[in-house]
Amino acid sequence: MKRTAIYPGTFDPFTNGHLDVLERALTIFERVVVVIAENSQKSTLFDVAERQAMIETVTASLKGTSVEVLHAGLLAEYAHSKGVAAIVRGVRQVKDFEYEFQMSLLNRHLNPEVTTVFLMPNVKYTYVASSIIREVAMLGGDVSKFVHPFVLEMLQKKFEAQKPH
Ligand code: PNS
Repeated sequence: MKRTAIYPGTFDPFTNGHLDVLERALTIFERVVVVIAENSQKSTLFDVAERQAMIETVTASLKGTSVEVLHAGLLAEYAHSKGVAAIVRGVRQVKDFEYEFQMSLLNRHLNPEVTTVFLMPNVKYTYVASSIIREVAMLGGDVSKFVHPFVLEMLQKKFEAQKPH
């Protein structure tokens, strides 16, 4: 039976790697809710409203997807409150696994009904991470292969606005 899953993350910004994982998840689950975690302990380039707008735009043509924000509290509790049984996380390389393994077991401890499902994006996104996209874009490098044109525009506007005049 296909069910609903949540796909949480910071998504600062949402990359083509994230999109690839989401599309894969939609082949398994009927609905996949992208959950932007506001309290992910990271200071972000884009605020929550900007990230929500970018993900809604990028995923507009995908059936079965919506975007929500986790403003505060634990993801495990959020999953419980929504009656969701699966958390989707993308794993690009072995080094991602240690942190993901720890989070998934902690989430399971906090909410035994929830199972984390790891999905590997296409190998061409193995080295794509939001942090490196931000850095390359900030320094004027071409990241058009790794983000949706709308996200590219948001990155360009953000760094343009941050330039000293
Ligand atoms: O994209 P990221 O930054 O790797 O995502 C990490 C995220 C947002 C999934 C994680 O920080 C999270 O779940 N935050 C919500 C608060 C929480 O439940 N923390 C405990 C995780 S075991």
